[in-house]
Order: sequence, then structure tokens, then C-alpha cells
Amino acid sequence: MSLKLNYYGHSCFSIEINGKTLLFDPFITGNELAKHIDVNTIKADYILLSHGHFDHVGDTVAIAKRTNARVIANVEVAHWASKQGVAQTHGLNTGGRFAFDFGSVKCVNAIHSSVMPDGVYGGSPVGFVIEYAGGALYYAGDTALTMDMKLIPMICPKLTLAVLPIGDNFTMGVADAVIASDFIECDNILGVHYDTFGWIKMGHARAQQAFSDKGKTLHLMAIGETKEF
Ligand code: NI
Ligand code: MN
Repeated sequence: MSLKLNYYGHSCFSIEINGKTLLFDPFITGNELAKHIDVNTIKADYILLSHGHFDHVGDTVAIAKRTNARVIANVEVAHWASKQGVAQTHGLNTGGRFAFDFGSVKCVNAIHSSVMPDGVYGGSPVGFVIEYAGGALYYAGDTALTMDMKLIPMICPKLTLAVLPIGDNFTMGVADAVIASDFIECDNILGVHYDTFGWIKMGHARAQQAFSDKGKTLHLMAIGETKEF
């Protein structure tokens, strides 16, 4: 079964599995590069937030209120979302897995920081391993390269796709992401968290070469593009 993915810029993307739309880190209206995306047309049954930073929480509250999507995040971020008036939330914490109607979500370690846009404590940043009928996806969130990534192939089936930050400065850069792809035993990588801000502008061809030199594929999608993996 192929995995249909829509890319909305920075670390925001959605996937459709088992008839449900999962939207990740919807930072859209604040993204200068995503001005052509109409946030009011974006579908979501679930919104997954990796941590509390503004470039991930973004339009979550508005989209959740419009779509009645359930926000899945660490307990602190989920609690913050409910205080903003989001009706449906589900808090997890690092190491925890829960079975939803589309498949399961497991929170894995991310080495980063987390605070809500209003300064409220944002808990520990996380990545997500999503298992569904016919595949598995790893979204690393914002993270450094970490040995903990070696645990991922031990705790889930072969990954269909991994979504990794590659922009450097705030997260892993390309060289570390290539090593991460070894750790997670996945050769099919979607790069995110690059180009949005001056400090994370990146040479695309060079990044893709670094992966292809190791026999791997780095996908870099246009903002608004849809692709099947
Ligand atoms: Ni961050
Ligand atoms: Mn970020």
C-alpha cells in the first residue's frame, strides 16, 4: 500500500492512512514560503505536534477548531492545546504507544527543547513512529542525531518512509541525517526543516548527493506538492 503525503512547507505535512488524514506540525500562515497555501482548505482528522515551538504549533488551534481534529502530542502540549479551546486532545509521553483508529502512534526521543508560543512549559520534544496496515512512518520532529535512533528498527516494522530535519543550526544537518538514516535502517528519506529561515537555507543538490552517495534517496518536495511513497 503506498503512502500519500502532502507537503505544506517547513516541517508540515499530512498523510492519509485508513481513510484518516494525519497532519503534522502545521506551521503555515507564519511561513513566508507557504503564502500560496490556503490553510482553510487543509484537512485533518488528527494533528500531531512534535513539540511546542511556534514553527510547529503554528496554525494548530485554528485548524483543530475548524476540523474538530484531535491533537496528539506530549501531555504538556496536549494540555496547552485544550486550554486554547481545542476540544479533542490525546497526551502521550516519551516511550508511550497508543492504538488509534488509523494505526498506532509511539512517541520516541528527540534531542531538542520545547516551550509553547506563549512561554508555557512545553514538556519534552518527541518524534513519532506511526504503524499502520501495510507500512510504518518515522517523523523525527526537531532533533539532533542521537544513538536512540538505533532503537527504532528494534521497535517497529521496516519503515516505509522517514521524515528527518536536515536544515542544520536548530536540528541535524545533512551529514548527521545521513547517519540517522543508517541508524533507523531506512533509505527513503523526506527532508524537512530547511530553507524557511535564513539560518537554515540549504543547497538542495548537494544534500541529495550526500544521500545518493550512500545509495539512499532524499526527497525534497515543493510546498503544496503531493507524492505517493
Ligand atoms: Ni523546535
Ligand atoms: Mn523547529
